[in-house]
Amino acid sequence: MGKDLSRVLISEQELQAKIKELAGRIDADYAGTELLIVGVLKGAVMVMADLARALHVPVQMDWMAVSSYGAGTKSSGVVRVLKDLDTDIAGRHVLVVEDIIDSGLTLSWLLNNLRSRSPASVEICTLLRKPDAVKVEMDVRYVGFDIPNEFVIGFGLDYAERYRNLPFIGTLAPHVYGGE
Ligand code: PRP
Ligand code: MN
Ligand code: MG
Repeated sequence: MGKDLSRVLISEQELQAKIKELAGRIDADYAGTELLIVGVLKGAVMVMADLARALHVPVQMDWMAVSSYGAGTKSSGVVRVLKDLDTDIAGRHVLVVEDIIDSGLTLSWLLNNLRSRSPASVEICTLLRKPDAVKVEMDVRYVGFDIPNEFVIGFGLDYAERYRNLPFIGTLAPHVYGGE
């Protein structure tokens, strides 16, 4: 890691406190129902694991793998489905769990895709959201943190597949990706 990391943006303690707070809201909103939480691989693994353990409503977990970034720092806008759900979501209450909404392209595409499968409901929980995301028309019910427009890594978020295992959110030093 060393000098590739520019600074810690959100500490491990802040992340864990926020996930517990989100779980409390989700528990209240979904009381009496069974929830299917859908993690978007690979970035959402950490928030899925911690959120699932903080929830008290009965949950099932499923995963979709989509990728729009490849190895770069910019969204290509082309969403590739690498792994589909194992579950038939018709009639189910679905909560999509993401690590970050950046341009919003990945999630708006995914929402359209999931809504076409006739679920009882689909809501979104994202740990992080960037300012550009508001340009895409999307109702995001659960947002952990609104963050500035910097390239962030850690807690599931990668740069060229590295740094996902950091327990906090940090910013990548501009020299790493050719910035100023
Ligand atoms: C990242 C991130 C979100 C998406 C957000 O995934 O985990 O899923 O990009 O970007 P957007 O709002 O601009 O579409 P990525 O495609 O890098 O795949 P990964 O989760 O496997 O890292
Ligand atoms: Mn992702
Ligand atoms: Mg990525």
